[in-house]
Amino acid sequence: MKTDQVWRLGMSDMQILPGSRHRPPLKRPMWIIVLLSLLCVFLICAYIYPPQSSSACYVFSSRGCHVLSDWLPPAPARVYTDEEMASRVVIKDILNTSPTHSNSPKVAFMFLSPGSLPFEKLWDKFFQGHEGKFSVYVHASKDKPVHVSHYFVDSDIRSDEVVWGKISMIDAERRLLANALQDPDNQQFVLLSDSCVPLYKFDYIYNYLMFTNISFVDCFKDPGPHGNGRYSDHMLPEIEKKDFRKGAQWFTMKRQHAVIVLADNLYYSKFRDYCKPGLEGRNCIADEHYMPTFFNMIDPGGIANWSVTHVDWSERKWHPKSYKALDVTVKLLKNITSIDVSVHVTSDEKKEVQRWPCLWNGLQRPCYLFARKFNPETMDKLMFLFNNYSAP
Ligand SMILES: *[C@@H]1O[C@H](CO)[C@@H](O)[C@H](O)[C@H]1NC(C)=O
Ligand SMILES: *[C@@H]1O[C@H](CO)[C@@H](O)[C@H](O)[C@H]1NC(C)=O
Ligand SMILES: *[C@@H]1O[C@H](CO)[C@@H](O)[C@H](O)[C@H]1NC(C)=O
Ligand SMILES: *[C@@H]1O[C@H](CO)[C@@H](O)[C@H](O)[C@H]1NC(C)=O
Repeated sequence: MKTDQVWRLGMSDMQILPGSRHRPPLKRPMWIIVLLSLLCVFLICAYIYPPQSSSACYVFSSRGCHVLSDWLPPAPARVYTDEEMASRVVIKDILNTSPTHSNSPKVAFMFLSPGSLPFEKLWDKFFQGHEGKFSVYVHASKDKPVHVSHYFVDSDIRSDEVVWGKISMIDAERRLLANALQDPDNQQFVLLSDSCVPLYKFDYIYNYLMFTNISFVDCFKDPGPHGNGRYSDHMLPEIEKKDFRKGAQWFTMKRQHAVIVLADNLYYSKFRDYCKPGLEGRNCIADEHYMPTFFNMIDPGGIANWSVTHVDWSERKWHPKSYKALDVTVKLLKNITSIDVSVHVTSDEKKEVQRWPCLWNGLQRPCYLFARKFNPETMDKLMFLFNNYSAP
């Protein structure tokens, strides 16, 4: 808008000029100087107030506008608020602190579930013989779980209700992280659902997670209605639309990142207030956007951009495919473990497919360590086939 005024100001200046006919005619060099100074004033103004609205752009034609803003040096950075400044400095400090050393590093397996875990027996088989290298935490949001494996006894943390799409989902994730962070030996934090199963034996998963310094947080840019379409301008100035990202909630996280998630209040509060189902006609799902957006803003190089938990969206329905007992074969599981390219599809008409190789410390490796969603009835078959499919 400001450019508009500047432009109109420029126009009225020009209209004044022909009025100078009554004065003695200016000599040619004088005209050139006047024109040049006008051009300078205009360019300076355009630099300070870069054209933002399309109405300002039509003066140049939309293409010209692009060229002009590309050619101008970048506009000065926004001045941060006190809260933003504090938040950024704390996050940066945590990221620059070398990770705490542990003589017996453990992976924290954190389960988000409404109640009892249908695959506890399978997880029991998975954990057997690896005592001291893992810990287990269960957040049961509805019913108190009945445990069948001794690895899960006393693993229930104080929990609260979880409402789909709302911030209570993130609250549950933060509750799990806070509990798991209490054990200084926990170095990697894995979020799992009640319908998740392991795809490999324990050692393979342990080494995959422990010997890399990135977190597997799913993150991609979706310009469509189920991506940027859920963004709200209320998130400004801290979160701009260009920063908004999407991704599945099932993460694994290194300790520093877990600490940062708990330290964050600023970005969290934006999602709590302005990302929920039915807000201003948008169905924003907090758990699909908070972590991807947050990490994309504060440590983009620190996340893998894919989740190590596989889910099959190929049917393109509102919910992913749920596997029944008949679906479960060594072939299906081997099929999943053979995938080494991560695929994301945007939700606009273009349905653009984004593919990138799953790089683990620079090497292309299988993307997935866990898979969902398995119906409880698949349990016996998974137990029977586990030794067969889980060998790398
Ligand atoms: C991870 O480690 C590699 C080398 O070991 C280093 O180049 C890279 O910057 C590290 N990344 C992060 C996010 O710490
Ligand atoms: C994840 O994506 C961001 C950009 O969106 C990129 O900067 C970063 O390097 C990616 N992470 C890895 C590990 O490649
Ligand atoms: C294995 O994957 C291929 C494509 O990658 C698919 O066509 C096939 O149906 C899959 N097989 C099973 C058993 O899921
Ligand atoms: C396990 O895998 C082997 C081949 O590696 C195969 O011969 C055998 O039939 C499989 N067992 C089951 C129960 O699928």
